[in-house]
Amino acid sequence: MSTIKEEIEKRRTFAIISHPDAGKTTLTEKFLLYGGAINTAGSVKGKANSKHAVSDWMEIEKERGISVTSSILQFNFDGYCINILDTPGHQDFSEDTYRTLMAADSAVMVIDGSKGVEAQTIKLFKVCAMRHIPIFTFINKMDREAKDTFELLEEIENVLGIKTSPVNWPIGSGKSFKGVYDRNKRQVAMFTAVSHGGAREAKETDISADDDRLKEEIGQELYDKLMEDIEILDIAGEELDMKLVSEGKISPVFFGSALTNFGIETFLHHFLKMTSSPVPRESDEGIIDPVTGPFSGFIFKIQANMNKAHRDRIAFMRICSGKFEAGMEVYHVQGNRKQKLLQPQQVMAQSRNVIDEAYAGDVIGIFDPGTFSIGDTICAPGKKFKYSGIPTFAPEHFCRVVQTDTMKRKQFVAGITQIAQEGAIQIFKDYNLELSEIIVGVVGVLQFDVLKYRMENEYNCEVRLEPLPYTQMRWVKDNGFKLDDMRRSNEIKKAKDMKNNPLLLFQNEWNIRLCLENNKGLELEEVK
Ligand code: G4P
Repeated sequence: MSTIKEEIEKRRTFAIISHPDAGKTTLTEKFLLYGGAINTAGSVKGKANSKHAVSDWMEIEKERGISVTSSILQFNFDGYCINILDTPGHQDFSEDTYRTLMAADSAVMVIDGSKGVEAQTIKLFKVCAMRHIPIFTFINKMDREAKDTFELLEEIENVLGIKTSPVNWPIGSGKSFKGVYDRNKRQVAMFTAVSHGGAREAKETDISADDDRLKEEIGQELYDKLMEDIEILDIAGEELDMKLVSEGKISPVFFGSALTNFGIETFLHHFLKMTSSPVPRESDEGIIDPVTGPFSGFIFKIQANMNKAHRDRIAFMRICSGKFEAGMEVYHVQGNRKQKLLQPQQVMAQSRNVIDEAYAGDVIGIFDPGTFSIGDTICAPGKKFKYSGIPTFAPEHFCRVVQTDTMKRKQFVAGITQIAQEGAIQIFKDYNLELSEIIVGVVGVLQFDVLKYRMENEYNCEVRLEPLPYTQMRWVKDNGFKLDDMRRSNEIKKAKDMKNNPLLLFQNEWNIRLCLENNKGLELEEVK
């Protein structure tokens, strides 16, 4: 029997962030293969046989072959208990993607070596940087022609504003990809692509940098380049200061090829050692230690109607300290009541299992009778501390919602408000309340379809969504600046959110800059 301390210290809870197509799914799959959690590649994507209860609006995702829900994958590897929090990526990018990052202790950033830093990576990185969590970089697809390595690192440093420290270094790329040099061990893991029953895999053999065979294997030109690169790195490269890594100021960088399974095991070993088990979290009553603290956690995501027959809601809780046991009494701080959490379960890629216990670092799904909100704290009875709430992120797509049957105003308002409370959409009203219009803003466009579908099917209220030209939203900082005095605001829409916070909608970044230049004293915020 292991102790609570042992259980918590072997936990590693992280998210993988990337731009679509960089290889997040492939990498996740390779991790799972190492952990023995799946037997064959392709299992992660194969949602067709999934045992998930399919909800009404998940019909939309089924039709499109994508997933709106993010799932949590737990598996054991090398003595660690690993929780990967999957962040929805493609068309299903939503506020949940950001919120999931609030539950992660570190992030693995996957970058396509031929593309460098892409748009979605930037957005997700910003959220991780805001929390100062450690970020590990895996530069993928080295079996394809990649950008110059130094240029890639420079791009990461310049675009994302984080320092980089390569743990290993690639030798060539694409057709001339020979492997990676381990700077610590001073040896090269050689890459040989092999075809293996249709699947592409790489064979790895190690050669010491001092071994004469290395020059023969990689050729004079690449050998000279490698020696030169290493010298530059050793002199001018950033030292791998683990304190700065833990604060998210330096990102350890690794190279490999997820598809051919090259460099994955090395990455996993280093990553698991370098990243930490759950760290203490700040609450309004001070720091809560994961091991010595009482049981506690917070809700970071709510998924309604996961089961069509029951119209149930599942709240996802990240456990921050202590041990959770099924049937135990807990205290819901915001709801100010003691309760038992019903049907605690582990929500995995392929299935939902009822669980008996879970520890700090784990994420569990609990039945939500409609009393939980995103950001709520749950802790052991007798405790009343709160973890800081989950921020709201500025949406990027906006529509005016028009109710087609004006007789159904009540259903309309009830539906829109309920869906907004769940956090899938944000609603805004006219700044001066002169117009009764309701504007809906979302982080990912799929949420518009979800909204329309749910309004019609759950609230029996047809709506029309009229696209608006805005792509940026900023909250107006409360510093005494008067929005009524705003100058040159023709193309800008003034609005208020449901809590009456004033905000502005812009058509593009350029308009934001211009507006700030024209209005001295105005300060804007991207996250609330
Ligand atoms: P994502 O989850 O980040 O969106 O990316 P995903 O893993 O689905 O990978 C996107 C595409 O890139 C896939 O090809 C995948 O096989 C390929 N890929 C991933 N890692 C590597 C790599 O290391 N090297 C190379 N050459 N390709 C890689 P696809 O053809 O779009 O899909 P599929 O038919 O292979 O599933």
